[in-house]
Amino acid sequence: MIRFGVLGAGRIGKVHARTIAASKNARVAWLADAMPKAAEDLAAEVGAKVASVEDVIKAKDVDAILIATPTGTHADLIEAASNAGKAVLCEKPVSLSVERIVSCLKIVEKNKSNLMIGFNRRFDPNFAALEKRIRKGEIGEVELATVISRDPGPPPIDYVKISGGLYRDMMIHDFDMARFLVGEEFVTVQALGASLVDKEIGRAGDVDTAAVQMQTASGKICVITNSRRATYGYDQRMEVHGSKGMLSARNIQNTTVELANANGISGDPVLNFFTERYGQAYANEVNAFIDGIAAGKSARPNGFDGLQAQKLADAATESWKTGKPVKVQ
Ligand SMILES: NC(=O)c1ccc[n+]([C@@H]2O[C@H](COP(=O)([O-])OP(=O)(O)OC[C@H]3O[C@@H](n4cnc5c(N)ncnc54)[C@H](O)[C@@H]3O)[C@@H](O)[C@H]2O)c1
Repeated sequence: MIRFGVLGAGRIGKVHARTIAASKNARVAWLADAMPKAAEDLAAEVGAKVASVEDVIKAKDVDAILIATPTGTHADLIEAASNAGKAVLCEKPVSLSVERIVSCLKIVEKNKSNLMIGFNRRFDPNFAALEKRIRKGEIGEVELATVISRDPGPPPIDYVKISGGLYRDMMIHDFDMARFLVGEEFVTVQALGASLVDKEIGRAGDVDTAAVQMQTASGKICVITNSRRATYGYDQRMEVHGSKGMLSARNIQNTTVELANANGISGDPVLNFFTERYGQAYANEVNAFIDGIAAGKSARPNGFDGLQAQKLADAATESWKTGKPVKVQ
């Protein structure tokens, strides 16, 4: 039985704590949140006790720490949990600063800690199946990947201002998917961006509409497009083209009911946002982490994956600002 300390009882902390509580192989032993009421309510629901962040990390009856607090706290909490000898599952991103990720990963490496980063899309049943079939060679050599990700609507402007920008906040998931699908590191990044959804986002120094093209050293290309608007739900699609064929994964609609009449054929909007669309992915992610600890295996995606995605996000941000392609180490 893996005993978890959960830090953060907000939107994503609740999702993960419920998955742990539902597992036969794990339980939430302790929970902490800066807002005592949030911690107490979730603790009552999942059968955990409440303590301070520091005490949860140090607790003797905790094997693993799940970090679901705001982004700015992640690197410090990963280090503290790693120094306390715990396995760590931390929500993305590790930090908005590549330098801070590097210094954090040094501690993780020194302690030989098992660190997983919450790039949940790798655990979506459809995208996971797509990646497996690429690796089995069904489309031969990967040549061109397309990743499309559009939110149903923009976040509040106060969040935009502290988010690190669309490339680091939203596209970070797509950078990870691009590496996961193509299976090589990208060395060149070229970005375009605009504020077409809400001019206020532009005035805050960010974009809400973006396209990035990237290339690996062997020439493989990935194109990512993001928008903070989609009138038909949370648009999440990908397509990978190779020397022997093409694999793609479509959106998931609310129901499979279709209306056919003289005007054509129409169906439901697609699932509205991340808790609905990726519910299964979040559960599979946490369960993979639990199974990995039980089997003594280190987790993937790990800190290195977090670092590489962040480098691509920084490169895209720089390319958008300068209008020039950016090389990535
Ligand atoms: N993988 C995904 O798809 C996904 C989805 C949502 C959020 N996230 C990430 O998860 C993190 C949390 O996002 P959220 O949407 O759940 O936020 P949220 O604001 O809903 O929840 C954060 C919680 O942390 C608590 N908190 C704040 N500072 C704290 C501290 N220093 N110590 C302890 N508790 C503290 C807050 O009181 C709040 O309850 C962010 O880093 C975000 O990027 C990832």
